[in-house]
Order: sequence, then C-alpha cells, then structure tokens
Amino acid sequence: MFKNLVTLVTGGASGLGRATANRFALKGSQVVFCDLPTSNGQEIVKEIGENVHYIPADVTSETDVQNLVEEISKKYGKLDILVNCAGLADAHVTYNFRAKTPRKLDDFEKVLKTNVLGTFNVIRLSAGLIGKNEPDENGLRGVIVNTSGTEAFRGTLGQTALAAACGAIHSMTRPLALDLSDQGIRVVSIAPGFIRTPLLDYIPSETTEAISQECIISPKRFGDPDEFAHVVQSIVTNPYINATTIEVSGGIQMNL
Ligand SMILES: NC(=O)c1ccc[n+]([C@@H]2O[C@H](COP(=O)([O-])OP(=O)(O)OC[C@H]3O[C@@H](n4cnc5c(N)ncnc54)[C@H](O)[C@@H]3O)[C@@H](O)[C@H]2O)c1
Repeated sequence: MFKNLVTLVTGGASGLGRATANRFALKGSQVVFCDLPTSNGQEIVKEIGENVHYIPADVTSETDVQNLVEEISKKYGKLDILVNCAGLADAHVTYNFRAKTPRKLDDFEKVLKTNVLGTFNVIRLSAGLIGKNEPDENGLRGVIVNTSGTEAFRGTLGQTALAAACGAIHSMTRPLALDLSDQGIRVVSIAPGFIRTPLLDYIPSETTEAISQECIISPKRFGDPDEFAHVVQSIVTNPYINATTIEVSGGIQMNL
C-alpha cells in the first residue's frame, strides 16, 4: 500500500524522524525529509538508499516550509503523509536556588518555538497539498502524525519546556483533526517515553539502567526509534485512528 504514497518527515536526519524515513522508504513510499541545513541529511540519504530525498528546511521558517512544500508538489505532484519529528528538548530547573539564577527564557522559548510553532507551521503549509488528493473509499485524503511525549501527561523534574511543548502538541491534535476533517485529513499524535536517540545521548548509562528498571513497566529498556516508526506505520494503515495521542513508552511513570 505504500508504493504510491509520498511522505514528508520533518527532522528526518536523526532519531525518530530518521527511523520513520527509513521504515517508510523500505516499505516503498517516496520519502522527502527535511532538517536544518547544518544536519547530515545528505549522508542519511546515502544510508537509506532508494526512495529518499532530502530538502534542508527550518520548520519554524515560513519561507523554508513554503519552498519545501512547493518542491514536493513539483517533484511528486502530491503529498499523502506528514510526520512531524523535528524538535528539541532540554533539562533546566525553573530556578536554581544554589546559583540564585532563574531558567533562561531564551532556552524555554526555543523549545516551544521549534516543537510547537514548527509543527503547526508545517501542518498549516502542507494541508492544502494533502487536501488536493482524491479521496479513498473512506473519504480520506491523507494523514498527519505529530510527536508529543509522555511529558504531556506526567511531567518530570527540569522539564517545564518539554512538558509545555508536548502538552501543546497533544492538545492541538483534536482541533487540528476537526479543522482538517472536511478535507478527509486525519491527525494523530504519538507520545514517546524514552526512545534511544541522539537527543538522549547526555543521559549516562547508569541513569538509563536505573530509569529502565524502576520506571518502565515492561520491557525494561528504552525504546528503539523503529518502534516509534512502527506506530507511525500503524496509524497510517489504520483509517479508524484519528484525533488522539498514542503513548509508546513501555508504560513509563517517572518517580519524580
Ligand atoms: N527521543 C525521545 O525519547 C523523545 C521523547 C519525547 C519526545 N521527543 C520529541 O521528539 C522529537 C524528536 O526527537 P528525537 O529523539 O528524534 O531527537 P533528535 O535530536 O535525534 O532528532 C531531532 C531532529 O530534529 C532536527 N531539528 C531541530 N530543530 C529543527 C528545525 N527548526 N527545523 C528542522 N529540523 C530541526 C534536528 O536537527 C534533528 O535532526 C523532539 O521534539 C523531542 O522533544 C523525543
């Protein structure tokens, strides 16, 4: 079923986006991924091989994303699937009482801007192209998958920015699905727990092991990026999933 589909993955040069681009390309979809111009996108294209095209774009830029969608329209004539994975995370307490310093506002803003505004920007500029598709037997024309996170429901120490971003993406899911429903576009979000990507490289292996043993129900390990990509595939292939957020976390519940 993927053979005639065109998929756009944001943040495709690393982590969850890269795994999704890889899985969808292997399934036969034409995949375009974007990432920051400083990323190693071209190397990822070589690694994944066939069916993959890289277009540098900053998801927070109107011009970049307009150009991205235009290039997709010119090259493929359509877009069926959008998977939003571009994003950041950081860890800072709100006020450091020892150093007597508040958390930097710029860092907080950057996470919200990239994850929330960036996701919304790509959706609003891609929806028109997806909406041009011929409807299938369910009246559906395409699907949009966003990346939230379990922080949306169970925020943890130092994670105000990520929790706010994940919460916003979760909360946007239903209104987006309603806004785009007349044109038959589904919108679903995924809330990962800890998935082993370069984003989590800063976590020492002892901490990874402690979190796995104490906070994850099962399996007692961090997730693999392809387990995220597998859920994206399930969302795409199951037309009855819409307007919801699906957790992929091994049932994680952090103690703090
Ligand atoms: N990995 C996890 O366990 C986890 C858990 C919860 C939420 N998330 C969220 O999922 C998203 C993806 O995480 P990941 O683990 O794949 O991280 P990652 O760092 O491996 O990949 C993110 C990619 O997004 C790109 N990117 C960043 N800003 C961008 C921009 N403005 N425009 C275009 N591309 C941009 C980066 O260059 C990078 O290639 C993040 O928003 C993260 O907060 C991840």
